[in-house]
Amino acid sequence: MLKNRSLVSIEDVSSEDLEEIFRVADSMDASIRSGKKISIMDNKIMATLFYEASTRTRLSFESAMNRLGGSVITVADTSSSSVSKGETLADTIRMAASYSDLIVIRHPLEGAARLASKFSSRPIINAGDGSGQHPTQTIMDLYTIKKELGKIDGKKIALVGDLRYGRTVHSLILALARFDVEIVTVSPPELRVPEHFVARLPAGRKVKVKDSLDAVVSDADVFYVTRIQKERFTDQNEYKRLIGSYSIDKETVSKMKKGSIIMHPLPRIDEIKAEVDFTENAKYFKQAANGVPVRMALISLILGE
Ligand code: NCD
Repeated sequence: MLKNRSLVSIEDVSSEDLEEIFRVADSMDASIRSGKKISIMDNKIMATLFYEASTRTRLSFESAMNRLGGSVITVADTSSSSVSKGETLADTIRMAASYSDLIVIRHPLEGAARLASKFSSRPIINAGDGSGQHPTQTIMDLYTIKKELGKIDGKKIALVGDLRYGRTVHSLILALARFDVEIVTVSPPELRVPEHFVARLPAGRKVKVKDSLDAVVSDADVFYVTRIQKERFTDQNEYKRLIGSYSIDKETVSKMKKGSIIMHPLPRIDEIKAEVDFTENAKYFKQAANGVPVRMALISLILGE
């Protein structure tokens, strides 16, 4: 169902697609663990075009393609490409599509991946478009919740931090709204989920809005914590005022219910203290590691025979 299709918004992925991705990701995970070589992408090339900083997303996409036996061509620093000469996104994409079978793009402007998909003869994967979305992150986030808690339905999920500019939350809230979950957003009033994302939730879907972590700390099953997105603020004084609004330390963790999990798309700044890393609740490094099997599943479903 994902075959030959672009993945720009999480809305491009149906609930059935999600189930299929999770199933394939489980088998990819098992192959990685067994050390078995998988060569299903032997003659395929993936292009990664990153117009914005990335560590995990680019490395895990490239690792995934390498593990599948495919090849990767990349522009990791657009100042070294013709973009710095003034080439338009449309032209760069046309070229990349003629050199590869699949394009993974990250761009500072919301809507850039959608635009790229219009000019590309190959499928486009959105690896983050400004303050828009980050759909593949969402798929690995959901996969992580399912793996760690056994299921997604029935859980209480707190989305914490910069919900205004944080693209991972935008895709995640749209996806979570399809499940039977309680969603609580926790942020300063200035950093709430933008209205245009709330308007896309299914009619009648309730989301609780809180300013303080105290409101959920003792009963949420998942704490999805995000970084204040410094690079999106036009006023850096505003950023400085809001940084540190939420900080999870060991004392916060001691108030959480047993078995609850703390997630973060990473990188973190100071919203989760290093002392939390050693608690059982901390799942953000596992979450990041899940990026490889999930992206292997996505690549193989989009490009597979
Ligand atoms: C996120 C992103 O780029 O949106 N990082 C990631 O891909 N794991 C989160 C962030 O930068 O805060």
